Amino acid sequence: MDVLQELRNKARSLNRSVVLPEGDDDRTLQAAAELARDGIVKTVVLGSEKQLLDRAGELNLDLTGVAIVDPAQQSYKDELAEILYERRKHKGLTLDQAREMVLDPLYFGALMVKSGRVQGSVAGAAHSTGDVIRAALYCIGLAPGIKVVSSSFMMVMPTGKIYMYSDGAVVPDPDAEQLASIAISAAHIHNALTGEEPVVAMLSYSTKGSAEGPSIDKMRQATAIAKELRPDLRIDGELQIDAAIIPKIAEKKAPGSAVKGEANVFIFPDLDAGNIAYKITQRLAGAQAIGPIVQGLEKPAFDLSRGCNASDIVNVAAINAIVSASLEGVKV
Ligand SMILES: CC(C)(COP(=O)(O)OP(=O)(O)OC[C@H]1O[C@@H](n2cnc3c(N)ncnc32)[C@H](O)[C@@H]1OP(=O)(O)O)[C@@H](O)C(=O)NCCC(=O)NCCS
Repeated sequence: MDVLQELRNKARSLNRSVVLPEGDDDRTLQAAAELARDGIVKTVVLGSEKQLLDRAGELNLDLTGVAIVDPAQQSYKDELAEILYERRKHKGLTLDQAREMVLDPLYFGALMVKSGRVQGSVAGAAHSTGDVIRAALYCIGLAPGIKVVSSSFMMVMPTGKIYMYSDGAVVPDPDAEQLASIAISAAHIHNALTGEEPVVAMLSYSTKGSAEGPSIDKMRQATAIAKELRPDLRIDGELQIDAAIIPKIAEKKAPGSAVKGEANVFIFPDLDAGNIAYKITQRLAGAQAIGPIVQGLEKPAFDLSRGCNASDIVNVAAINAIVSASLEGVKV
């Protein structure tokens, strides 16, 4: 079965909830109708009820089963403003400013997640990646022990084999500590979405001292930090990609490595490498690229490409549901 169909089925079995803040975007309404019709997640859409229902009528969409929430009409909007104020007052945010900010659907949605009213959010059809991630950082915050929000691309090869590439979309020039967080987050996402044990390669142009240089030092240091934080994780570095995925080469170049040429999670030294690698794999190897899947937050707030269609939103909502369950320790 198609991987995305499998993810939709998995999400359906988990019975999770997701908020789609961009109710004024037609694709959001189309996705909400499909999510409700197929029972993939319990869906909340933000916006004025009358406007959304009128527009749904014009688009011939059935929003039965979709909850419509108008931020301006909610009695709990002050409670959400209080949460935001408490989180950002050290940066000079006033309560009045927080009250204004919560009326922005991105912030209202992220605060619904933070306050437990829904389990995840999906936005970005009509906002930039920066806007979506900033709202998530301000309202939800990082997962315990994680230093940075980053992302993974789930790469489905023509053979069906799945690799996680991280980070290909968010952190331009991560330091060693941030790379350790990126590795731990990507390992979690890989396990949540595939059920496989993650095997993490900290990639470089050097394998175990075959060359020397600052970026090699960074990958070695990141590996050491990640191992200390997560001694249970199969992770090694620095490794070249061939030593990471080909057992015979691993035996020669990295004997004794925990990765053994079986890596399924690739951590790149910077955003140039990660972004170039995922696009090369997509374009030259014919892999399907699913993502960017935002990782590192306490609860999932996912980003969409502004060029997305309704079906992409449905897929991202399904992945969001699986990740939110896995972050709560639910067996997915
Ligand atoms: C994450 C991102 C949105 C932050 O942008 P920004 O608002 O310009 O970032 P700033 O440096 O002003 O930082 C704002 C706050 O977020 C924090 N922050 C920024 N990036 C962060 C990250 N990746 N993880 C955790 N915190 C982060 C900063 O520490 C700062 O916190 P503070 O206000 O509490 O001090 C930015 O990295 C981004 O736009 N990434 C997308 C990159 C991109 O364009 N990718 C291509 C698209 S595929």
